[in-house]
Amino acid sequence: MVAVASPKLRKEQESKELKIFVVTVTGILLVLAGLFFGLSLGKRRQGSRSSGQGFKLLPTPSKTAREEWPPLSAVYDGQKVISDPQFLLDFAIIGFEKSGSSTFMQWLGAHPQVQCFQEEIYDLYQNKTGAMVWRLHTQLKPGFEYKRGYKSPGDIFLANTIHLLDEYFPKTRLILSLRHPILYYQSIYNFRIQNLPNPDDPFHTPLEGIGECKNTYPGYVCTNHANYAQYIYRLGKTLSRFPTETEQAIIDEKPRSAAKARVTRNLIFVVEISQLKDDNALRRQQLKEDLRDFLGLDSDLPDEIPKVVPGKKWPADVQAIKDKRKMNICEDQYIPLREDIMRVSKQTATWILESFIQSDDVFVSTPEFFEQSIKKWMEDPCETKTLRAASK
Ligand SMILES: *[C@@H]1O[C@H](CO)[C@@H](O)[C@H](O)[C@H]1NC(C)=O
Repeated sequence: MVAVASPKLRKEQESKELKIFVVTVTGILLVLAGLFFGLSLGKRRQGSRSSGQGFKLLPTPSKTAREEWPPLSAVYDGQKVISDPQFLLDFAIIGFEKSGSSTFMQWLGAHPQVQCFQEEIYDLYQNKTGAMVWRLHTQLKPGFEYKRGYKSPGDIFLANTIHLLDEYFPKTRLILSLRHPILYYQSIYNFRIQNLPNPDDPFHTPLEGIGECKNTYPGYVCTNHANYAQYIYRLGKTLSRFPTETEQAIIDEKPRSAAKARVTRNLIFVVEISQLKDDNALRRQQLKEDLRDFLGLDSDLPDEIPKVVPGKKWPADVQAIKDKRKMNICEDQYIPLREDIMRVSKQTATWILESFIQSDDVFVSTPEFFEQSIKKWMEDPCETKTLRAASK
């Protein structure tokens, strides 16, 4: 139906249409402004949630306020963390076992500006953030002049622990030390035997450790743990939509584990254990300086890198029984075991060089030497006679 209107009526109608137009446009603009405001608010809220589960963040301490060390009651109410605990934790040595983490604990701990627990701390590993905050506050010397840290080489195996570090301590600097997977396996297996409370307590054989870790014995040793990339991947430093072929293989091998990967904010310093044993004076100096800068220390770390041999001590007769149960991974009976480890070794080495250390959040000292050390993982060290004799 078409209405034919008089000129006056048309004019009235036109002005009415104009009014409707203006009102509509204003309305749309208001809605858009509201959406924009709401979204940016939501985003900000999300930001503060991910940086600490929705609790109120402490204001960034000013120069003078910095001198006042907050009391325990400002961060912990006896059950849970009630404000930003970041100031309590500057670094964490989160892995891997038998790869130099004790050396780091002692070496860093010997610096006058460092407060580092000289035993392993499992609070975050056990999902007890409150206990961690309590411990850091009450068991280490107070004061902003110190850099505080702990070591727990199993942390890297638990996605939850990695997420807690990012959530509560995003500025905490992480240290990861690595070792040839074949040597790692032998070392961790023999360490478990060494620490069994009684010399003939049952434990699985080295060959039974091929594949998944089982929970039939505490501290079960398995070749899966030697595929470091499976765990390091979950720090979320390489989450690109276009993974390399190797990264895709790592994801496909354990998709449920890989799905726990999340972007984390912590910076990471990664070393290969050869760097801690390096005789080259220039490279050692470089390592010391790089670590000093990474940790924000005012002076160098001690020259002497401690040589640590952890493990319980026993009387000679007990030790003899234990020695008999220990493995020499270069023996022929372990060829299937070494084949399995070499597969993961090549995969993990490739991924570390191709993907992990390419991240801006990951720091390496003397990269050429690091690369050279990681590339040795492409070979089975038992194929060199020297190790065959030495690893007895
Ligand atoms: C860790 O603790 C929190 C809070 O108590 C809980 O919600 C969460 O499920 C726990 N996570 C794990 C993996 O145990």
